[in-house]
Amino acid sequence: MCGIVAYLGHREAKPILLEGLKRLEYRGYDSAGIATVNGKLEVCRTVGRVSVLEDTLRKLPGFHGSIGLAHTRWATHGEVSERNAHPHRDDKRGIALIHNGTIENYAALKQYLREKGHVFTSETDTEVLAMLISELYDGDLEAAVQNALREVRGAYAIAVLCEKEQGVLVVARKGSPLIVGVGDREFVVASDASAIVAHTTQVFELDDYQVAKLSRDAKGETTFRTSTLDNVPVTPKIRQLEFELEQIELGSHETFMMKEICEQPRCLRMTLQGRVSEREGRIVLGGIAEHARELIRARQFVLTGQGTAYHAAMLGEYFLEDLAKVSAKTEYASELRYRNPVVVDNTVVIAVSQSGETADTLAALRELKERGALTLGVVNVVGSSISRETDAGVYLRVGPEIGVASTKAFTGQVMVLAMVSLYIARRRFMSMDTAGEMLGELSRVPELMERILEQSNHIRKVCEKYVDRENWLFLGRGYNYPVALEGALKLKEISYIHAEGMPAAEMKHGPIALINDGMPAVFVANKGPQYDKVMLNIEQVRSRGGRVIAVATEGDQEIKSYADDVFYVPPISDPLSPLLTVVPLQLLACHAAVLRGHDVDKPRNLAKSVTVE
Ligand code: M6R
Repeated sequence: MCGIVAYLGHREAKPILLEGLKRLEYRGYDSAGIATVNGKLEVCRTVGRVSVLEDTLRKLPGFHGSIGLAHTRWATHGEVSERNAHPHRDDKRGIALIHNGTIENYAALKQYLREKGHVFTSETDTEVLAMLISELYDGDLEAAVQNALREVRGAYAIAVLCEKEQGVLVVARKGSPLIVGVGDREFVVASDASAIVAHTTQVFELDDYQVAKLSRDAKGETTFRTSTLDNVPVTPKIRQLEFELEQIELGSHETFMMKEICEQPRCLRMTLQGRVSEREGRIVLGGIAEHARELIRARQFVLTGQGTAYHAAMLGEYFLEDLAKVSAKTEYASELRYRNPVVVDNTVVIAVSQSGETADTLAALRELKERGALTLGVVNVVGSSISRETDAGVYLRVGPEIGVASTKAFTGQVMVLAMVSLYIARRRFMSMDTAGEMLGELSRVPELMERILEQSNHIRKVCEKYVDRENWLFLGRGYNYPVALEGALKLKEISYIHAEGMPAAEMKHGPIALINDGMPAVFVANKGPQYDKVMLNIEQVRSRGGRVIAVATEGDQEIKSYADDVFYVPPISDPLSPLLTVVPLQLLACHAAVLRGHDVDKPRNLAKSVTVE
């Protein structure tokens, strides 16, 4: 969703802001804009890619100075247009503002401001906030921002500057992500670390309802002050960013999605590192150790997330019930948050999220926390809202995920959920030997994945045969039903092909009517307890003219007489099979999108991190 970058320091702001916006492009957006101050405030906004903004700026004089803001907008209030793009401004006081989030009471505030004589030029909630700050401005931007935000309901990460205070940048947050990078006589503020890491690795985050005033004096020295909305000083914790610039660069790959699919073995080795001992059947998860007793005694686990994270959560449910023998259920966070759920004593909620900022997941988590559940996060982004608000958690450690289609985060989530389940299982009644065997298999997943990745060319060739078909089915059973859902989601989100994932046996209860001559049906048909049943389902599709693509276990020759095309995965125990069977489906989706000529990393209408409802 919307991307924020702001700069205050000793260098020209414009190139830093534009480079920052490019780093944030992956978040998804439809328009972009920039504001700088050098004597006077200048604002430029354009519809479309950041490159359009860059081209426009090339033709304009000005836009110099070492303070500025820039933004990529993902429309929520009002159409995609230049006048709705950020920054929004109030010319009377020379104030400019960028915002990520939604102001819920904007209509009432707008009415109040209209009565005060303000004239609005956009349909956005953000312009209302810019005007409100201007209305309350009395020579002190920090105070005006604090006072304005006390009147606001909703979510925001904002950066504000004022022509009258050219050495001051004010930023604030509630609910939406914002990081402040503290460099040598400069600050770089951004929605996420990818726009900061090239400049500094020292950062701090604000808590909800906090404001930071970043200042530069006449000598160029910088200082900052953080406070609550009531102006009570707070001291943020400065931390070191834990990733390198190369991790957010393409290297030799054509797309971030392909890069991230291919780096899964390396990333999962990081997920495992120092956490499992096969010999002792032991798992060490420092992030949940303090709550081990509550986890062992839990009566029920509720797992929640959205999209790909929801599919990983489903697997977490299966692991907990099958391996740890404890009741578990999964729910979409968007449903859970409003459903008035019953939370029995000793409930543990697990929020699964790559970004740690998904608005629905965060809200569901808060709701269940209020109702007394212990909260765990299975999150990738360190310091994100979910990781900060949960009682305990386990990080994925798969590094920044830039591709909008989540891949390495999915396998990271599944691996962490398997580890958490084994952690509990071992402490309940799983023997050391059984746990040791499973941990041994888990540790071998990265090298087994490498064998699957070698089939990428074969998968592309198979994909060429079917890529013009507009309707696909993805079918699986048991542990591979969530994989079927994930395969379908991957294909639709970047190829814009209609795909449905479902339990293989469900097909004959209706969807089988869709099958016509040549329709591709992808079956996850690895050797597992339901293998024979899946073969029956394959027959049902073939006899109606469907074309079968099977994900099968190496050595299974029989499958070739059932399927038109086969992608092989190495043998592994059934619970861990999703970590392997999903990989050919990720590759299939990525190749399909490229073959159809789509921008894999910037799919239409999608945002990487969905921070609004
Ligand atoms: O950051 P999160 O994991 O919470 O995001 C949840 C979903 O928005 C996300 O998984 C989405 O479905 C991906 N685009 C799927 O590839």
